[in-house]
Amino acid sequence: SRSVRIAPSILSADFARLGEEVRAVDEAGADYIHVDVMDGHFVPNLTIGPMVVKALRPHSKKIFDVHLMISPVDSFLEDFAAAGADILTVHPEAGAHTHRTVQTIKALGKKAGLSLNPGTPVEALDYLIEDLDLVLVMSVNPGFGGQSFIDSQLRKIERIRTLIDRTGKAIDLEVDGGVNVETSRQVRDAGADVLVAGSATFKGGPDAYRGNIAALRGAA
Ligand code: DX5
Ligand code: ZN
Repeated sequence: SRSVRIAPSILSADFARLGEEVRAVDEAGADYIHVDVMDGHFVPNLTIGPMVVKALRPHSKKIFDVHLMISPVDSFLEDFAAAGADILTVHPEAGAHTHRTVQTIKALGKKAGLSLNPGTPVEALDYLIEDLDLVLVMSVNPGFGGQSFIDSQLRKIERIRTLIDRTGKAIDLEVDGGVNVETSRQVRDAGADVLVAGSATFKGGPDAYRGNIAALRGAA
């Protein structure tokens, strides 16, 4: 079976030492660097913008998996692409024309992801899935790290696994929120390829990152 990939969310990193933190999780075995971008409008928190992504880019050659929780989103795509994002993931509620947003991301030469909030139905993928490189299932309501996994999302992950397999395309299925050594196995069994882990990666500080990532991989 496909090997699981681990994407540490730097939302749980030490923001005063963000470059070193990215370097540390890279060296500790991260597959992707998951960057949570929040605007205080689409979600109730403010985090980082394209300037920070650009500043972090030299610290790792890993895939920069940029999760855009901002609305409207279209006017920022070019800046995040130029800053060095590899994957740009948007939410369908973040603009009136999701299909166009996906095409814009691809025209910028980046991989396109679509993220579904816990209450957003699988049908939000209709007419879009064939054009996507990644589907991101939110297993918490976005805005903050350290929340509990919402079990109902396991059924959604299973359904999306089936839809992806039906396309015959290499579309990543990524899960974000409350993923830890207790939940990662179920998430994996439901069909996820990529596990986002914020608090479960960064707990215990830099000396623990390698063990934390290995534990997530092992438990999945
Ligand atoms: C939530 C973010 C997540 C978050 C995950 O809005 O999209 O990436 O950082 O944090 P944990 O892994 O602690 O639930
Ligand atoms: Zn995220």
